[in-house]
Amino acid sequence: EDAEKAGYEHFMLKEIHEQTKSVYNTFAGKLSELDGSINLEELNLTKKQIRNLTRIELIACGTSYNAGLIAKYLFEQLAGIHTNIDTGSEYRYRYPVFCDSDDVLSIAISQSGETADTIAALQSLKSSGCRTLAITNVMGSSITRDADDVMYIKAGPELGVAATKTFTSQLTILYLLAVHFARIRRNIDIEESRNFIKALKKLPGNIQRILNAKDTVRKYAKQFSEVSDYFFIGRYMNYPVALEGALKLKEISYIHAEGYAAGELKHGPLALITEDTPVVAIATSGHTYDKIISNIMEVKARNATVIAVAEEDDNEIEKYVDLVLRIPKTDELLSPILSNIVLQLLAYYTALAKGCSIDKPRNLAKSVTVE
Ligand code: G6P
Repeated sequence: EDAEKAGYEHFMLKEIHEQTKSVYNTFAGKLSELDGSINLEELNLTKKQIRNLTRIELIACGTSYNAGLIAKYLFEQLAGIHTNIDTGSEYRYRYPVFCDSDDVLSIAISQSGETADTIAALQSLKSSGCRTLAITNVMGSSITRDADDVMYIKAGPELGVAATKTFTSQLTILYLLAVHFARIRRNIDIEESRNFIKALKKLPGNIQRILNAKDTVRKYAKQFSEVSDYFFIGRYMNYPVALEGALKLKEISYIHAEGYAAGELKHGPLALITEDTPVVAIATSGHTYDKIISNIMEVKARNATVIAVAEEDDNEIEKYVDLVLRIPKTDELLSPILSNIVLQLLAYYTALAKGCSIDKPRNLAKSVTVE
């Protein structure tokens, strides 16, 4: 096992570091900068079918669900396709209005391809008549047998129970899919998709820069490792980033953590904010930047310590928060990937400071094959 860790103390840390390569493997061979097209040969959907799509139904659990939440923004914003999302366990027991048409594409996202609830929900969507696509990391996994189409994220084996590099690769493939749909549906032009491709190609280098600065994350993680509650807040696409940051922290450090849509704070959780609750605010640039700053001020007024995740060129943020974790500037739609890597490191170093069983957290399994 030690040999497999390649000198890292844990699989999780190794897998966090592998992201420069795994993300490259996800998009390698799929990008054509010349004409801004995305080559998704594995997808059997015709251009006509893509143009006719009226709805996407996303199904996933755990970290894959958080990737799906981000994809909802991508499919709606880039490709103009109305998108719903549900967890496998909820979808299978509600009474959805069935699609009965292949104008609806259902996409199941599952790292392992073995999650019982996700598979059952996909089967139910398939039997209702919609087209199905599985996005997974594992060749030949159960879900690949149920879906009409399969896309592999090619992140390589992930052994840490807490998903890291597979989340990044799921986001990457979903981004490719959204740009692909957007081009075919003529929602974006060649120039725009070329810019998306350029930004994607810079991801491995940008991830490396975050990894190079991991000592700062380690320092802050240690500083707050004894707290009993943590909040993660974000707006727009940073809302699912906040959910995933909180999920990662609770999974491996056992600290109670809540991810919240920052605009919802005043509808309840503000009552819990005190000087003893660190608040991580994902404050990357974009149309909700001013709004998250207002939310930061709300929690500062309750004496919380605020740690912001912000871009390198943001000179304003320090005025509002106590500590800043930096990410390189990138396309707004790709920044969730970079912000998330900072939060993976925060969770990892918090759990390390607490001496937790990082690769095999208590009560959790890598894949949940029973209901
Ligand atoms: C388990 C794992 C999580 C994972 C979830 C969904 O709970 O511990 O890391 O996100 O299952 O797994 P899947 O393989 O379907 O993505």
